Amino acid sequence: MSGLSYFIAGEAAMQALGATLGRVTECEGTLYLQGDLGAGKTTLSRGLIRGLGHAGRVRSPTFTLVEPYEMGSQRVYHFDLYRLADPEELEFMGIRDYFHGPALCLVEWPERGQGVLPKPDLVITIAPEGEGRRVQLQPHSARGEAWCAALAGGAA
Ligand SMILES: Nc1ncnc2c1ncn2[C@@H]1O[C@H](COP(=O)(O)OP(=O)(O)OP(=O)(O)O)[C@@H](O)[C@H]1O
Ligand SMILES: [Mg+2]
Repeated sequence: MSGLSYFIAGEAAMQALGATLGRVTECEGTLYLQGDLGAGKTTLSRGLIRGLGHAGRVRSPTFTLVEPYEMGSQRVYHFDLYRLADPEELEFMGIRDYFHGPALCLVEWPERGQGVLPKPDLVITIAPEGEGRRVQLQPHSARGEAWCAALAGGAA
């Protein structure tokens, strides 16, 4: 499976990439967002969620672990597992329900949920590069491959 790599200069471009990604996913599937503190995971998520039509704020769900969004019939669950002490906590919060049915799940700090978290369709890795960020997209399923093909075909 071949991935995609983008250099993204600035917050606005990061949000625009998120919005494009949201359209391509048609709001169904699982995205992991990897990268250090301050990499830009929430920025990308914000662009994605707003791009799907959410007009309000998009806050980092660090303390609540998950923030749900509903835009018409579309649902997005934005997870931030940074403060997850034990992956088993995810079982207690009924994680399976979130990943069941048509919804898009965005997961920051997926490493913390290893073993309990469902597999991703796409892994997004963000790293600093100069004044901007290097964003790498690696598909992990046929669905993720289709998204990357759409992006490479000019959806971006
Ligand atoms: N492509 C970019 N180029 C330059 N700066 C960016 C880019 N994307 C995001 N930033 C900036 O990086 C900072 C941190 O972003 P953000 O909060 O999204 O990081 P995060 O990965 O979610 O961090 P955390 O792990 O703490 O949740 C913000 O100030 C944002 O404006
Ligand atoms: Mg964040």
